[in-house]
Amino acid sequence: MPETWWRGAAIYQVYLRSFADGNGDGIGDLAGLRSRLPYLRDLGVDAVWLNPWYPSPMADGGYDVADYRDIHPDFGTLAEAEQFIREAHEAGIRVIVDVVPNHSSVASAWFQEALRGIGRDRFWFRDSADGGPPNDWQSIFGGPAWTQVEDGQWYLHLFDPAQPDFNWDNPEVRAEFEDVLRFWFDRGVDGVRVDSAALLVKSESAFEDLDGVHDIYRGWRRVADSYPGRMLVGEVWLPDQERLARYLRPDELHTAFNFDFLACPWEPAALRACIRRTIATHAPLGAPPTWVLSNHDVARVVTRYGRADTSWDHADRRDGVHSDLELGYRRARAAALLAMALPGGVYVYQGEELGLPEVEDIPGELRQDPMWRRSGHTVPGRDGCRVPIPWSGEEPPFGFSTGTPWLPQPEEWRKLTVEAQREDLGSMLTLYRKALRLRRDLLGDGTLTWLDSPAEVLAFARESGLTCVVNLGSDPVRLPPHERVLLASGPLDGERLPPDTAVWLV
Ligand code: GLC
Ligand code: CA
Repeated sequence: MPETWWRGAAIYQVYLRSFADGNGDGIGDLAGLRSRLPYLRDLGVDAVWLNPWYPSPMADGGYDVADYRDIHPDFGTLAEAEQFIREAHEAGIRVIVDVVPNHSSVASAWFQEALRGIGRDRFWFRDSADGGPPNDWQSIFGGPAWTQVEDGQWYLHLFDPAQPDFNWDNPEVRAEFEDVLRFWFDRGVDGVRVDSAALLVKSESAFEDLDGVHDIYRGWRRVADSYPGRMLVGEVWLPDQERLARYLRPDELHTAFNFDFLACPWEPAALRACIRRTIATHAPLGAPPTWVLSNHDVARVVTRYGRADTSWDHADRRDGVHSDLELGYRRARAAALLAMALPGGVYVYQGEELGLPEVEDIPGELRQDPMWRRSGHTVPGRDGCRVPIPWSGEEPPFGFSTGTPWLPQPEEWRKLTVEAQREDLGSMLTLYRKALRLRRDLLGDGTLTWLDSPAEVLAFARESGLTCVVNLGSDPVRLPPHERVLLASGPLDGERLPPDTAVWLV
């Protein structure tokens, strides 16, 4: 693979806790992941991105990192992580790790020192004049963004109180993270996902997308560029594409997740506009777009696309809102072919390739997401998209573990196991496998040419000659002239493309 492998890569997101359990404690781990590498190779992905695998009290699924240079004992050891990186490379799969620079964990050595009064300037400690929090900032998980310590000072945490925010004005913090990047690059890691990338720099009155943040990524880019073929991908949730583009300047991050696409409703005008906007903002920078349908923070795409309102909004998660899952499933299949045909990289969140729906009936006492706790049990949160993968068999734990999975799996998932789908030509898994294979040769990095089509149809051609047509209307439409159908997300109606169906033609 060329050194710019990431420009057109299909990247599979592994939520380690829920992927495969190797030792029967109900928690996914590196042993489980290593045993499933053949699955990932056969699926046809170019890279994996792993959510944080570091030692952590797990107050936020590991996004509260206690030590950026080691592995959580639930997942394995550092030696095993290195072995995994080697084995993944042997299987032709690159490895991206998650680095969390906005905040730490209350269990980190630095924060423990800070509690004893040493080095508080690595974090955001403030006095308050009136006995209340220093300002009215709210945590993204609900409640105040400040917590008071014993001697009366308050520390800032944009997320959970267990996640104290770093002070990026402190050069020690900058040096520490550049060193963490080197630590993982030295171990062969091919890329780094930058968590909450727009929040790092704060002023006394604002914390989102301040100009100073770009200087940090210039430093990170210099580190990445000192190794061959490494990449940085930013988690930048900014509604304004022009602001997002600033993170992708040639001396900053290589790519960013396209949340505009993820949040876009399944509607022809909105999708067309989103795709155009994405391409228009990326092209002048020479940065490849990415196409993202889901991740560990949002409701599963099958469930989202079956709702009356198919858009996504963090502030209104629409948990429990009725979803027509059959419709959502059909649309998710079409969306997969759309996302994989667009120019640039594509992300696949584990279970997306199985068509898993959101699990909405997890009992409250089993829920682990801090959103659930911090909202006073009003927002169910993100556990529903993090339920362990069903691999095989007729009942839970479906080959995920020999013990009890950390979140319960629905009985109905017997129809959605890898085993049940592997030989089924009509399954979601087969669609993903075929599409990822074709994509390797015919799609990925490059440009597209829009083709004339009715307003409710998206139709475009790629350099290879592959044409993608998606019908987002309510009536079948005629296919454009073609020689052959390479792949379709659902049955065709003769020469016509049914609603909520996508097709790849040559
Ligand atoms: C990112 C992660 C999310 C986490 C948050 C705080 O948004 O994707 O899972 O809760 O950062 O680290
Ligand atoms: Ca385990």
